[in-house]
Amino acid sequence: MWKKILAMVIGVLIGYWLIDDFNPDIIKGKRIVITGASTGIGEQMAYHFAKMGANILVTARREHALQQVVGRCKEINPNGQYYYISADMLNMSSTYSVINEAKDKLGGIDYLVLNHIIVIPMGVWQGTVENLTLMDKIIDVNFKAYVHLASHAIPYLQESQGHIIVVSSLSGKLAQPFTAVYSASKFALDGFFSGLRQEFLMKRCNISITLCIIGFVGTENSIRGLRNFGQDYLIENVQPAKPEDAAMAIIKGGAQRAREIHFPYMGTRLVTLFRDFFPDTIESINRFFYRLNS
Ligand SMILES: *[C@@H]1O[C@H](CO)[C@@H](O)[C@H](O)[C@H]1NC(C)=O
Ligand SMILES: *[C@@H]1O[C@H](CO)[C@@H](O)[C@H](O)[C@H]1NC(C)=O
Ligand SMILES: *[C@@H]1O[C@H](CO)[C@@H](O)[C@H](O)[C@H]1NC(C)=O
Repeated sequence: MWKKILAMVIGVLIGYWLIDDFNPDIIKGKRIVITGASTGIGEQMAYHFAKMGANILVTARREHALQQVVGRCKEINPNGQYYYISADMLNMSSTYSVINEAKDKLGGIDYLVLNHIIVIPMGVWQGTVENLTLMDKIIDVNFKAYVHLASHAIPYLQESQGHIIVVSSLSGKLAQPFTAVYSASKFALDGFFSGLRQEFLMKRCNISITLCIIGFVGTENSIRGLRNFGQDYLIENVQPAKPEDAAMAIIKGGAQRAREIHFPYMGTRLVTLFRDFFPDTIESINRFFYRLNS
């Protein structure tokens, strides 16, 4: 009985893996907005999109880093149009500036890729004033700015029958220790965008929403964050995926109008599949990789 079920699960997982009917040509000439694009997965998405012939507006806080990303896009594909706007997602009025810039420079939006996060040190929740103040910032940047950006972009996405891609995390399906508020912000994205997706379907509004469940990816920020909090055990025992592979998985899922994508597939899919059946077991396996260093 168990063997049969296991064989079935593995069969489905492998089948899912092998199906890949993504044609990069459909990205050619598309108008893309990517937030958090100065580094990590967002930066890699810009390069993939550039290679596929898209026109791109990248945003993040650091102007110099954005200039470099735009320069690299031009090297990869000199035929595309690339723009940047420096914006701080703590300031909700800058979400207007980003979408207005997309309208002015790109003439509309086909893909809104929401990817930025505030980089915060990991830590034990102690309920201090410092913890509570930081919570506001995390929720503003990681959650509210996503809702604001999507809201301003809806008229353009409606016109293009476009795509919203929400880059979330395994933390948005299985909460993680030492990043409780970060997990909360990612759960909030699932809540909001899963509700919005249903409204779109009811209104026959053809904007797709893809929620991306991303596991451990070896970006500079994630490795540094873990190391600074003494989580060397995790770094040494879990092989991180490559940012460029995560970026490609996200683009494919968005282009195919998938409801959710999981990357790396096996780890993140199995966890989300079993967390409701065996929450204590799944969480204790998860905790096995973390160390409480006082
Ligand atoms: C927020 O951004 C707007 C424009 O995007 C700017 O005019 C304003 O000064 C910013 N506010 C703060 C507090 O930085
Ligand atoms: C909570 O605040 C304390 C000190 O105020 C700090 O040591 C700890 O790292 C903070 N935790 C988080 C999750 O930020
Ligand atoms: C939604 O838009 C896409 C791209 O324009 C199109 O391929 C698809 O058929 C549309 N779906 C519906 C239900 O209109």
